[in-house]
Amino acid sequence: MKNLKDEKIIVLDFGSQYAQLIVRRVREHGVFAQVLPCNTPFNTIKELNPIGIILSGGPANVYGNNAPACASEIFNMEIPVLGICYGTQFMCENLGGEVVSTENREYGITKILLTNNGNIFEGLDSELNVWMSHGDQINNLPKEFETLAKTDTCPYAAIKHKSKPLYGIQFHPEVHHTPAGKDIIKNFVYNICKAKGNWKMDNFIQESIAQIRKQVGNNNVVLGLSGGVDSSVVAMLLDKAIGKQLHCIFVDNGLLRQDEAINVEKTYRDNLDLNLTCVDASDSFLKLLAGVTDPEKKRKIIGHEFIEVFKNASQHIENVKFLAQGTLYPDVIESVSAHGGPTAVIKSHHNVGGLPAELGLDLVEPLRDLFKDEVRELGLELGLPHDMIWRHPFPGPGLAVRLLGEITKERLDTLRSADKIMIEELHKSGWYSKVWQALCVLLPVQSVGVMGDERTYDNPIVVRLVESVDGMTADWVRLPYEVLEKISSRIINEVKGVNRVVYDISQKPPATIEWE
Ligand code: XMP
Repeated sequence: MKNLKDEKIIVLDFGSQYAQLIVRRVREHGVFAQVLPCNTPFNTIKELNPIGIILSGGPANVYGNNAPACASEIFNMEIPVLGICYGTQFMCENLGGEVVSTENREYGITKILLTNNGNIFEGLDSELNVWMSHGDQINNLPKEFETLAKTDTCPYAAIKHKSKPLYGIQFHPEVHHTPAGKDIIKNFVYNICKAKGNWKMDNFIQESIAQIRKQVGNNNVVLGLSGGVDSSVVAMLLDKAIGKQLHCIFVDNGLLRQDEAINVEKTYRDNLDLNLTCVDASDSFLKLLAGVTDPEKKRKIIGHEFIEVFKNASQHIENVKFLAQGTLYPDVIESVSAHGGPTAVIKSHHNVGGLPAELGLDLVEPLRDLFKDEVRELGLELGLPHDMIWRHPFPGPGLAVRLLGEITKERLDTLRSADKIMIEELHKSGWYSKVWQALCVLLPVQSVGVMGDERTYDNPIVVRLVESVDGMTADWVRLPYEVLEKISSRIINEVKGVNRVVYDISQKPPATIEWE
C-alpha cells in the first residue's frame, strides 16, 4: 500500500500560536500535514517531497533584526506555497516587495472584498468576513504579483503570483472567526496542490498494523494502561496488530477516582480480552507520600514509584523488548520547536515519570502523528466504547494534585466521594460530554458552618469545570445554576467533613487547570 504520509503539506512555523491549528485544518480535509520550524534546511524540505507548503503567521516584523526566515528556495520549487499573515509578508519581502508598519492596524473580524473569485477563493462570495491580526502590511507588491482581495485599509489582503503557484493572504483562514477559512484551505489543498486525500483513519489502521508487526516481530510489548483514551487506543491498535504479544499493566496508585481500578479491570479484561496485570500498589504510594505537601515533591515521588512498580510487574513477562506509549503529535512538535523553531515552548503537561530510559526498552508509539481528536476518531473506528473515548483527561499523579496539603487515605476518600457526586450530576444533566475536564479539589483550610443545630468547622471543596481544546488554555464553564446547586447541596449533605462548596471561575492563563 502507498504510504499515507507520502502526500503531505508542510506548515513552516514562524512562531505562530496557530501553526498546529493550520495542520489540523488541512488534515480535516483528508490530507496529511506536519509542522516544521521555519528555519528547516531546504534539503530537508525537498526530501520530504511535500505537495504544498503553508507559511504560518508570527509575532515578528519581517523588516526587524533577526526576523524569522525560511529557505527562499521554496519559492522556486514549482510546488504551491500559501503564506498566511507574517508568512505572506515574508514571501513578499523576499521576492522584492515592501512591508511597512501601518497606522491602520487591523485586528478582529474584518470584511474583505474579492477582486478575483478564482483560485483559492473559488466558490466563495465576493464579500467575506475574515479574522485579521496585523500591525504591518504590504506597501508594494513584488513585480510578478497581483491582488486577489482588499479591505478598506489593506489594499493587498490576498495576493497571487502571476505565473507561479504562490499565494498569500493577510488574514487567518485557520481560526473559526473566518467562516470561509475551511473552504479556502480546501481550495488550496485540492484545487492548487491537487491532493487526492488519503489521510483517513481506516487507512491509518491498516498502515499502523503493518508497521507495528514489522517493528515488533516475535517479541513482547508492555503498555502502561491508565484507563485514559490515549493508552486505551494504543492497546486496541496493538491488540489488533500483535494480539497476545501485548501485555498491559495497570497500576493502582491509590490516587484514582472512586471505583476506577475495578472499572478499568472489568472493561479491559472482560470486554476487550486483553492480557492485563493489575497491580494494587496503593499502600506503597501512600506510605511514601505521608507528610509530603509540596506539589513538585508529590509528583516526583509518584513518578519514581510508578517506575519501580511498573518495572517489577514487567519483569514477570518474558521476552519483552518494547514499551508502547500513547505519545501524541503535539508532544512531538514541542520538542522540534524547542530546538529548532521560534515558537515559544509552553509545556502542556508535566508528564510524570521517565519510563523509556529507565526500562531500557525500545518504544512503540503508534499515535505519534495524531492529534487528540484524531485519536478519538481512531478509537471509534477500532470499536472502543463511547464512554471511554469521551473520558476527560486525568493527570498521571491523579488526585494527589487535587488534594492540597497532606495526602491521607481519609482525605482521599473525602475527595473521591465529592468527585463521584459531581461526575454523576454532570452525566445526569448532560454536561459531562460538553466540557474538557471536570474536577474537585479538597482544600486544607477550615471554615465555620452550621448543620442542624451543630456548628461545623470543616473543609471546602472546589468544583472546577473547564472548556479547552488542548489543555494549554482554558476557560471556566458557565454551568447552569440548577446543576451547580445540585452538586453543591449533594456534596455538603452526603460527604462527611465538607461544609462548603465553591466554584472556580479562573481562566488559564493565568491560573492552571489543576490546583497543583
Ligand atoms: P494544568 O494544570 O497544567 O493542566 O493547566 C493541563 C492539563 O494537563 C493535565 N496535567 C497533568 N497530566 N501529569 C499528567 O499526566 C501531570 O502531572 C499533570 N498535571 C496536569 C491536567 O489534568 C490538564 O488536562
